[in-house]
Amino acid sequence: MILVTGGAGFIGSNFILHWLAAESEPVVNLDKLTYAGNLANLASLTEDPRHIFVRADIGDRARVAQVLAEQRPRAVINFAAESHVDRSIHGPAEFVQTNVVGTLNLLDESRKHWSTLAAAERSAFRFVHVSTDEVYGSLGANDPAFVESSAYAPNSPYAASKAASDHLVRAYHHTYGVPVITTNCSNNYGPYQFPEKLIPLMILNALQQRPLPVYGDGLNVRDWLYVEDHCAALRLILARGRPGQTYNVGGRSERTNLEVVNAVCAILDEVRPDHAPHATLVQFVKDRPGHDRRYAIDAGKLETELGWTPQEGFEGGLRKTVGWYLDNIEWAQSVTSGDYRQWLATNYAGREAHP
Ligand code: NAD
Ligand code: DAU
Repeated sequence: MILVTGGAGFIGSNFILHWLAAESEPVVNLDKLTYAGNLANLASLTEDPRHIFVRADIGDRARVAQVLAEQRPRAVINFAAESHVDRSIHGPAEFVQTNVVGTLNLLDESRKHWSTLAAAERSAFRFVHVSTDEVYGSLGANDPAFVESSAYAPNSPYAASKAASDHLVRAYHHTYGVPVITTNCSNNYGPYQFPEKLIPLMILNALQQRPLPVYGDGLNVRDWLYVEDHCAALRLILARGRPGQTYNVGGRSERTNLEVVNAVCAILDEVRPDHAPHATLVQFVKDRPGHDRRYAIDAGKLETELGWTPQEGFEGGLRKTVGWYLDNIEWAQSVTSGDYRQWLATNYAGREAHP
């Protein structure tokens, strides 16, 4: 079996659903169930004995050791993290605790587990660390996209904590020989994304005719990848990626935030014409401090070495995503509880609209 951490979050739950649709091998899902973790994402697996859920914190060393000893996975895929840049600006400590200390615990206990395996199992074992393009910092408008050898230059507390975790993962290969692989992926979107992030926030706000808060001038650029394509890349990397390597994952799909928000509005205009045009809800608000201007990923290594290409284009993926949120309004209501409303009040306070 494989051990997935953070499997009740956005990408982790998509990964588990993707994995169990394609493979017979069971998954142990170790998740703390923070505000971002939601077992409703995996409701379709309730009767499936191949999904084993363990509520635990990757920072709890004894518990992680116990789970590894009991389950004896042949691979670990680490999705568990605090993942939202704005939250890291309001409270960085939790990011260091989970993303750095938690990853170190998981790495070290995985090293101990790996060292108990027989020779063939030891060489087949993998520790896949799911990281982000944000570790590379910000690009200028005409800079080439990030490659695996781009220098690390994290700018937010979130990005810095992910960069630190990547360095620890690298060190565990170099120092102890643990067969690790790190992936650095661009912005994901799709079903089950928590509505603090740009695309689901805009979909749900627009459906309720609430303002669509665009930071700064709306011209920051992100490189969007449909989550299913990220999951397919991770499955391939687990199967055929080379230990000690890093792989960039991205959709070659750069868009300004304003283009993304307008595209969401245009789809909603078609399916909810009563409230068209939704773009009149756009409000330009105070920028995110330290806001990175542009990210872009060159996924050439993954494409040429492992034959991966994204299957979904941005327009098709966005249409599917909007459709999913429309069909799953109850899911959205269930995750946008009192805590969520408190977060909106905190993050958007003092961000009055400006022209
Ligand atoms: P998410 O915030 O939706 O989910 C994170 C999950 O981790 C939740 O289920 C949460 O309960 C769990 N978790 C948090 N702290 C934990 C802890 N201490 N112990 C155990 N579980 C814990 O995040 P996501 O968007 O699904 O991102 C998953 C991973 O992918 C993260 O490592 C993130 O840095 C990385 N990533 C995300 C994106 C993106 O666009 N969302 C892009 C590139 C990389
Ligand atoms: O690049 C990969 C990263 O993408 C991941 O590592 C992170 O986990 C993930 O959260 C995401 O980070 P971003 O900061 O790019 O995502 P977010 O959805 O928060 O913001 C996307 C862009 O939209 C960013 O430029 C900020 C802007 N934005 C965001 C929000 C929430 C707005 O203009 N208004 C908003 O209300």
